Parts: sequence; structure tokens; C-alpha cells
Amino acid sequence: MNLQLKKIGHRYGATDVLQDIDLDIPAGKIVCIVGPSGCGKSTLLRLIGGLERPSTGQVVQIGDPPGDSLNPLTYVFQDFALLPWRSVEGNIRLVLEDHGITNRETEVIISDVLTRTKLTDFRQALPKQLSGGMKQRVAIARALAVKPAVMLMDEPLSALDSQTRELLMDDLVNLWTREAFTAVYVTHNLNEAVRLGHAVVVLSRRPGCIREVVDIDIPLAERTLGHPDLERQQQHLWNLMRDEAMAADQELVNA
Ligand SMILES: Nc1ncnc2c1ncn2[C@@H]1O[C@H](COP(=O)(O)OP(=O)(O)OP(=O)(O)O)[C@@H](O)[C@H]1O
Ligand SMILES: [Mg+2]
Repeated sequence: MNLQLKKIGHRYGATDVLQDIDLDIPAGKIVCIVGPSGCGKSTLLRLIGGLERPSTGQVVQIGDPPGDSLNPLTYVFQDFALLPWRSVEGNIRLVLEDHGITNRETEVIISDVLTRTKLTDFRQALPKQLSGGMKQRVAIARALAVKPAVMLMDEPLSALDSQTRELLMDDLVNLWTREAFTAVYVTHNLNEAVRLGHAVVVLSRRPGCIREVVDIDIPLAERTLGHPDLERQQQHLWNLMRDEAMAADQELVNA
């Protein structure tokens, strides 16, 4: 299933948040969204996921989600959003309840996503027993369990330290390489964007509109830390963003 955003605009009261967003999200690709604070990135994800309706324009689904998808548009948040009293397995089981799938199928799905996220040994652990990186892997496992057509990821690595972030980026690349998934991935971090994005969308400051879509053709598995082409792409992204970020910062100070 592909998504097409057509002339999306959004306002809250008198505040214009997004303007004229035209964007394709092709199946099997990761589209990263970067832009200054408050430019409307999270709002855009909510519009794509249908949590809110855009003031203008529309989100069009081309093709059907996979037949076994339990939740075609599934979020992964910065703060993991795990239930603290449920084990790793219990957190995943929760999203599989009330879908009419058999116990046997549920067990197969849980085992599969735990294997893919390297969490099998932590099946019975409670969130408080896990590091931040592992908690986010549980949240990713939980998202994969519902076989989403598109994962909507809002700064999923932002709460983690830089080493854990590196490890999780590798995990995401391995996951994607083994079985391509589709994601819209919002981040402040330009390094994450060039490591994970097949395309990086640069938004202007509010009202956010698209300044440029930068395609990155290097296969994900070859995007190692310090790759010279990636550093060039990252510099290009920063050149696009620097003035916007400074102006947005100034606005926050003056607000
Ligand atoms: N429910 C809401 N009601 C009113 N204004 C809102 C609402 N949600 C967001 N906004 C405003 O819309 C603008 C964009 O917010 P949004 O959270 O989408 O930005 P963002 O790019 O994700 O920011 P950040 O980089 O800080 O995560 C901000 O000015 C914010 O205050
Ligand atoms: Mg946000």
C-alpha cells in the first residue's frame, strides 16, 4: 500500500501549521521528515494516521494493506508507551487481543517479532527491568506484531543516548533488510535521517511546507557511520535547515 499526501494543509484556530504538503510514501521505503521545532512534523504524522483530519487536502491510500494487517497505520513514539505492569510479551499480546485470531496464531506472531527484535530472552521481563534501547525494541516489536502497512515513527530514538541510538539504527537497518517495511520517520537528528531514509523530506518552519525532498540512493546496509556520501548529504540537509532552525528558535525565544 502506498500513501499519497495531496495538498495537505492544517491549522489550529488562527495558527497555520502545515501548508501545501504533496508527498508520496511508497511501499517498502522509509521516508524521513526533518524540520525545525514546532514546524508541524508530529501533526503531519497524526494526519497521516487519521488521528486528525487535515483542514485542507487529503491522504490517499493506493492499494490495500496486507490482508493479515491488524492495524494498517501504527505509531511508534519517543516515550515507548509500554504498560509498566505488563511483561514484554504481555505488552505485545495486548495489541493482538480482540482481533479474532487464535491463541496459536498469537503465539506465532509474538515469537516471530521477539526473534526479529532480538528480545526472545526477555519475554517475561517487565519494562522497568529493561534499558531504554530495549524498551524501544519492545515498542517496535509491538508495532510489527500488527503487520502495519505503514509505521508512523515520531522521534523513536530521541530519548536514547547516542550509543544506544547507533545500536537501534543498526537494528532498524537489519530489520528492514530482512523484510522491507514502510515507515514515515520523524526525527530532529539529521544523522538518523541520512542513515535510515530512502528519502528525506525537509520542512520549513511553521507553517511547515516542503523545502526539498532529498533522495538517498545508497542501500541501507551500506550506510555505515562516517560514510563520506552520507556526510555530504547530511551537510546539504543542514544547509537547508540552518536558517529555518535559527528563525524558529528566535520565534520561541520571542514567544
Ligand atoms: N492540538 C493542538 N492544538 C493547538 N495547537 C497545536 C496542537 N498540536 C500542535 N499544535 C501547534 O502546532 C504546531 C506544530 O506542532 P507539532 O507538534 O506538530 O510540531 P513538531 O514539528 O512535531 O515539533 P517538535 O519538533 O517540537 O516535536 C506548534 O505550534 C504546536 O504548538
Ligand atoms: Mg513533534
